[in-house]
Amino acid sequence: MIKRVFLLLFFVLVISQFLRPVKNQGSYDSITTFEATAEVSNEVKTILQNKCYDCHTNSTRYPWYMEVSPITHWMSYKIDEGKEHFNISEWESYTDKQKDHKLEEFVEVIEKKEMPLKPYTWIHKELSDQEAKTLMNWAKVMRSRIGKNNEELQTKKEDSLPKKDLDTTAVKEVVTE
Ligand code: HEC
Repeated sequence: MIKRVFLLLFFVLVISQFLRPVKNQGSYDSITTFEATAEVSNEVKTILQNKCYDCHTNSTRYPWYMEVSPITHWMSYKIDEGKEHFNISEWESYTDKQKDHKLEEFVEVIEKKEMPLKPYTWIHKELSDQEAKTLMNWAKVMRSRIGKNNEELQTKKEDSLPKKDLDTTAVKEVVTE
């Protein structure tokens, strides 16, 4: 009986090797944009590449074990779920408020050691204390920068006498056309 169960499981596994999930293999360009605008240092970049991008961008790496069922199916499912919550490839389409909120969650999941997701960490390892600190520091700096930008926007709006800046001249040009 047990033999039959194992044989059945074995065949299910073999067959599932042929049922390939669609790969998450978009171009790295969107990540490059994020890395430039979010002032990602080389140190932060390396950590994100090794621990986070696989599930939170449109560009997953596929070493051989990622091609093996059931790992490939589990990953495919988690990539979809991960991207739904936080997709770094779409960073530029987030509003300042959304970016701030994502960075807040970013710090939270690292503090609570929820990310990188288990059992991904069996192969890719947890974040070391130093890596966690580096990521959290970056996120905190980014949050304060986004906050400052927003304050500037606010005071600009409140300013009842529009100064000659790019925005108003652009509007005037459109109006006079
Ligand atoms: C194996 C895939 C995987 C890896 C690797 C991974 N994540 Fe996630 N992440 C997920 C999934 C799935 C979710 C959504 C469900 C959940 O929270 O468990 C998520 C959710 C998140 C969220 C949103 C949390 C929320 O409250 O909505 C953040 C922020 C996040 N991850 C950051 C990270 C960071 C930072 C890393 C790297 C240190 C990382 N993740 C690595 C799969 C992953």
